[in-house]
Amino acid sequence: MDNVDNMNDVNDVGELEERFEKTIKAGEVLRQVREEVRPRIKPGVKLLEVAEFVENRIRELGAEPAFPVNISINADAAHFTPKKNDERAFKEGDLVKIDIGAHIDGFIADTAFTIDLGDHEELVKAAEDALKRAIEVVEPGIETSVIGAAIEEAIKEFDFRPIVNLTGHGFLPYVAHAPPTIYNFKTDRGVKVEEGMIFAIEPFATNGAGKVAERGEVEIYSVVAAKPTRMKMARELLKEVEKYKTLPFAKRWLTKAPEVILSKLVREGILRSYPVLTEINRGLVSQAEHTIIVESNRARIVT
Ligand code: CO
Repeated sequence: MDNVDNMNDVNDVGELEERFEKTIKAGEVLRQVREEVRPRIKPGVKLLEVAEFVENRIRELGAEPAFPVNISINADAAHFTPKKNDERAFKEGDLVKIDIGAHIDGFIADTAFTIDLGDHEELVKAAEDALKRAIEVVEPGIETSVIGAAIEEAIKEFDFRPIVNLTGHGFLPYVAHAPPTIYNFKTDRGVKVEEGMIFAIEPFATNGAGKVAERGEVEIYSVVAAKPTRMKMARELLKEVEKYKTLPFAKRWLTKAPEVILSKLVREGILRSYPVLTEINRGLVSQAEHTIIVESNRARIVT
């Protein structure tokens, strides 16, 4: 999934037009959903209720979820989504990251924001400020490393750390994470930004070590290779997720999701799992994210 060039396979002008148009439309859907969901995130409200609200609203507004809504709380940074019949609710003091994606015919927009139910205003501001300053430096001809440097500098001004192993990313049709990789720190690794590129910038700030690792829980999967499999239940499961193509889906979206079948498909290299990522020192994590289109002299925010 990682070594695919972002631009060179989209040469046809009509295809480019379609890509911009549908990404922009997906972005408009996300803007509206984001504003509608913000006031719903309150202590006592169930995570599942918020997840279903977001995913249903994306569909009602004419797009499809590009991945299950990620609702990552406190030290969790990414890839948490509620289970079926999940009873967990937001609590007083929680630092809540909501990461949502929508697509139209595979053209994806992706955005995230942090809601502070406690006393972590500075941490929220650090991620937001980093995102704003990162977007400001984008123009054709710069290296992506300039974006990472802007993010790191902004977060450090707040005396926090960027998370170095979570990145912004490009998109391909039905692929939510494609090149270019947009690092959240200053690094020489990178590519030149070109007009017409579409990518998501997503700084994460933490008062922890600045790194995430997997913890046991897995609620999100995607199909990576359509290999034949012998077990009937596995085939049924793969049939059901065919419609998501290569996009991530939630365990709770499945009618039946036996753990043994899911693990077997992951072991066989047919499914990829997305374990919840948590800050290694249990630091609190904030996040902000927008999808942008690089125009001739600036970045256009589509979310
Ligand atoms: Co993203």
